[in-house]
Amino acid sequence: MGMSSSDKPRRTLRSETWYEGPEYYNFARRAYMRSEGLTRGAFHGKPLIGICNSWSELNHCNIHLRELAEAVKRGVWAAGGVPLEFPTISLGEVFIRPTAMLLRNLMAMDVEESIRCNPIDGVVLLCGCDKTTPAQLMGAASADIPSIFVTGGPMLSGNYRGEWKGSGTDGRKMFDLYRSGSLSDEELNEFEGCMARSHGHCMVMGTASTMTSIAEALGMTLPGCASIPAPDSRRKAIAEESGRRIVEMVWEDLKPSQIMTREAMENAITVDMAIGGSTNAVVHLLAIARRLGLPLTLDDFHRISARTPYLVNVKPSGEYLMEEFFYAGGLPAVMREVLPLLHGEAITVSGKSIAENVAAAPCHNRDVIRTREAPLHAEGGTLILYGNLAPNGAVIKHTAASPQLLEHRGPALVFDDHHAMILELERDDLPVDENTVIVLKNGGPLGGPGFPEWGHIPMPKRLLQRGVMDMVRISDARMSGTSFGTVVLHISPESAVGGPLAAVQTGDEIVLSASQRRIDVNLPQEEIDRRLAAFVPPKPHYDRGYGKMFLEHVTQAHEGCDFDFLHAVATPKNE
Ligand code: FES
Repeated sequence: MGMSSSDKPRRTLRSETWYEGPEYYNFARRAYMRSEGLTRGAFHGKPLIGICNSWSELNHCNIHLRELAEAVKRGVWAAGGVPLEFPTISLGEVFIRPTAMLLRNLMAMDVEESIRCNPIDGVVLLCGCDKTTPAQLMGAASADIPSIFVTGGPMLSGNYRGEWKGSGTDGRKMFDLYRSGSLSDEELNEFEGCMARSHGHCMVMGTASTMTSIAEALGMTLPGCASIPAPDSRRKAIAEESGRRIVEMVWEDLKPSQIMTREAMENAITVDMAIGGSTNAVVHLLAIARRLGLPLTLDDFHRISARTPYLVNVKPSGEYLMEEFFYAGGLPAVMREVLPLLHGEAITVSGKSIAENVAAAPCHNRDVIRTREAPLHAEGGTLILYGNLAPNGAVIKHTAASPQLLEHRGPALVFDDHHAMILELERDDLPVDENTVIVLKNGGPLGGPGFPEWGHIPMPKRLLQRGVMDMVRISDARMSGTSFGTVVLHISPESAVGGPLAAVQTGDEIVLSASQRRIDVNLPQEEIDRRLAAFVPPKPHYDRGYGKMFLEHVTQAHEGCDFDFLHAVATPKNE
C-alpha cells in the first residue's frame, strides 16, 4: 500500500508491480523507462496511462489520431498521470482485402495483449474506422483495466456542386449512375474529390458512426464524444478531458466490466435501434458481450427493436449527415429522448449514470432528431428474421429498404461466387427482372472468407438502365453500414457450413416477410434436407497462418464471429 500526495492510503498501482521490488527487472524497467528521457520522479508512484492508438496511414479515417493523442496527453499530465502512447494494428475498411472483418479479431487480440502485458494502469483507446472501435471494445473488455474511449469523429459533410453528399451512401448511388451511363468520367472524377473531404470516419450513420455511438451508449466515452466532427476543436477538448478523467478512473479502479454490464448492452441495442444503426452492430455487440460473459442473443435485438422507435434522420436510412446530427444535439439528445427505454442508472466512464449524463441534453433540430411521439418509424432500424432459410437468424435494415419490397416473393437467381457474380451483373441479357431475388452464397465467416461486405449486391446493370434502383437480395454476407436497399444479410448458419441457404437453386421461390419476421424458400423441408444431404463444403480458403486459425475458431454470425477461445472464461483477467 503506498501513500498519495494527500497522505491518504491508496491502492498499489498495477504498474508498480513492474517497477517496484527487489528484482533485477524492477531496476531494469525503471532504467529503461528513464531512457525515454523521463526522470524517476516523473513516473514514480503515478498512474501510467496507455494511449492505444489505431493511427495508420493505411487507415485514412484514423489519420488524425496522433494529434488527438497529444490532446489526451495534455489531460493525463494535468491530472498527475504519465501518458505512454502505443500502436496496434489498424484496419482501414476500404483498403484491407479480402475484408477488414477478417482481421477484427486479430486487432482485438493485439489490443488485449498490448494492454495486459504492459505496465499501464489505465488506457485511453483511440478509434474511428468501422472495425477499429469494436476491436478495441473487445480487447479492452478482455483486458479489463480502467479504460476510456476517444473516438475520432465523423468527416465533414461531402459536397458536390452544391449538394450535400454522404461518404459511402451517396458514393454508391453516384457510382450506380456512372454504371448506368448517367454520369460521365469527368463528373465521377470531380465527385471523387468531394465525397470524403476531411479526415474522420464516414459521416453517414454507417458502421463507424454506429459503433462510436454504441461506445458512448455503453458508457465507455464521455458524453457527447461520438458525434463531434473530426476536425472540430471540441474533439480535441473532449480528448483532453478524457485524458484527465482516465487518471481519476485509475484511482477509482473503474473497469470496463463494471460499465459494460448486461444493462449497458441493452442500452446500446436501444440506441442502435433509435439511430437506425448499421446491421454490423449486431455482430459486434454479440462479440463484445461474449468477451464479458454476458448472455446476449439475437432475440434481445428482436425484442428491443420491437419496442424502440427509430428517431435519427441521417443517411443511409434518413436524409441528413453526421455534421447536422451533431449540430442538432448529437447522441446525448437521442439518449435523452429514449431515456424511458434505457437503464438510466447504468454507470459510465464519467463516473455518473447515463441518466445524469443526458438529463439536460438539448435538441436543436427536431427534423434531424425526432421525438418518441413522432418517430420516423415505430420500430428500430434493424429487424431480426428467422425462417427455413435462417434457422439461427438473419438481419435486414428495413428502414433503408424499399417499403413495397418488404413483403415479397420471387424466383431466385443464385450465385455461388461473388467475383463471378459481379461480372454477370453487367450482362445485358441477364435473366432478371424486378421480381427476381438475387441469392449469394459463400459470403459468411468461413465462406467469404472473413464475412465480407458483399451483401449489398450491386443492382444488375440491365435493371439500372430501366430505372429500377432496388430489388430483394439475400446472402450470408454482411453489408457496409453506409449501404441501403432491400437486402437480407447474416443468414445463419452460413451456406459454407451447410446452412439451408446452400440448398437454394435458381428458380426456387424466395419469400420475404418483414411483418412476419421471416425469410423462407418455398420448398418442403424434405426437399431442403435431400439437397443438403448432397452438400459438399467448399475447399477451405487457408491452410496456414492467421487465416487457418480464423477458419478453425471463428463463430457464426448469430454468435458474433469472435474466436471461440476468446469468449470469457472464469479465470483471472489481468495477469
Ligand atoms: Fe473508415 Fe468508412 S472507410 S469509416
